[in-house]
Amino acid sequence: MYEQLVQADRIQETTDIFPYKSEKIFCGILTEDVLMKKVFSIIERVAETNSTVLILGESGTGKELIARAIHNKSGVKGHFVPVNCGAIPDNLLESELFGYEKGAFTGANTSKMGRFSLAENGTIFLDEIGDMSPHLQVKLLRVLQDKVVEPVGGLKPRAINVRVIAATNVDLRNKVKEGKFREDLFYRLQVVPVTLPSLRARGVDIEVLTDFFADKFGRQIGRRPLVFSDEVTSVFRNYNWPGNVRELENLIQRLTILVDGDMVTLEDLPEQLSESKSDNLLGESLPKLPASGADFNALVEEFENDLIQQALERTQGNKKAAAELLRLNRTTLVEKIKKKGLAKSIEVEVIDD
Ligand SMILES: Nc1ncnc2c1ncn2[C@@H]1O[C@H](COP(=O)(O)OP(=O)(O)OP(=O)(O)O)[C@@H](O)[C@H]1O
Ligand SMILES: [Mg+2]
Repeated sequence: MYEQLVQADRIQETTDIFPYKSEKIFCGILTEDVLMKKVFSIIERVAETNSTVLILGESGTGKELIARAIHNKSGVKGHFVPVNCGAIPDNLLESELFGYEKGAFTGANTSKMGRFSLAENGTIFLDEIGDMSPHLQVKLLRVLQDKVVEPVGGLKPRAINVRVIAATNVDLRNKVKEGKFREDLFYRLQVVPVTLPSLRARGVDIEVLTDFFADKFGRQIGRRPLVFSDEVTSVFRNYNWPGNVRELENLIQRLTILVDGDMVTLEDLPEQLSESKSDNLLGESLPKLPASGADFNALVEEFENDLIQQALERTQGNKKAAAELLRLNRTTLVEKIKKKGLAKSIEVEVIDD
């Protein structure tokens, strides 16, 4: 078990030297998106400390990659030990995390080290932390506060030196409100919160990552990297990507195996993507013109304001990223925000990039 963990650690490290436009890759993470670059600057800072980090983001946005990047950048000697809290049944998770002593329960013929101890002088990555039971939440809080672990059936707590990085794709704040997640633990975990933007909010990254994966999987099976027709590129840009980077990665891998020629066309795409092309871009959300007619200029103005507002909210007020989302020049967007006085009316703070 220990050897497996050590090996997994090393395998991941080798992916960092994948020979592709290496100046754009940060610890195996490729991006040209402004919000992601801000995440990188947080990582650089937090890596130098031993602080607890909470990574938030939809499924497939790269939470584990970011956790590994913090570990690698921190240069600590210990290992990176991932634990999927959602995948291990609660009664096993406690001994998995903290270990157990010989005789702690029927069948415990020897003692066993927990993952916290395996991560000594390194990092433990608690994935899907939102799924942790209230009972284990209390135990984890104690570990974070006192820096000690208590193996199941053990008499003495053992001091540990481990950085904790937790991740979740659920809204933890909501879980706290619903009484399903301890508030004190939430604040202990989110000493440094890192929020990863969804792929659809990353603008240019969809194309950058498409080419990256086409190159990567092309190399893997010894064929030229796929290229994509303009229509396909436009479908990719407008698709919602609920599975984020993982969904894009899997799709490009599948296309690399299945497509005959070098060029991917609309016919090669799976249904859920090609259908998104035939839909009106805004689906049912466009208002219907009332029988009595309407004020054209007022309606267009309202629509424009709404789009700008959505883009600013999605990019946490970052004008450059919002302009990319709307395929506008940054200066055009800034002008519009000023003219319409939008900065005052939206909930997020509009920031300069
Ligand atoms: N910016 C990126 N550059 C290259 N590969 C990426 C990037 N972001 C994510 N990936 C790849 O996408 C996949 C998903 O990433 P990861 O497992 O880190 O996501 P996650 O947020 O932990 O997902 P989940 O919530 O489903 O566990 C991985 O194969 C990862 O290598
Ligand atoms: Mg994950």
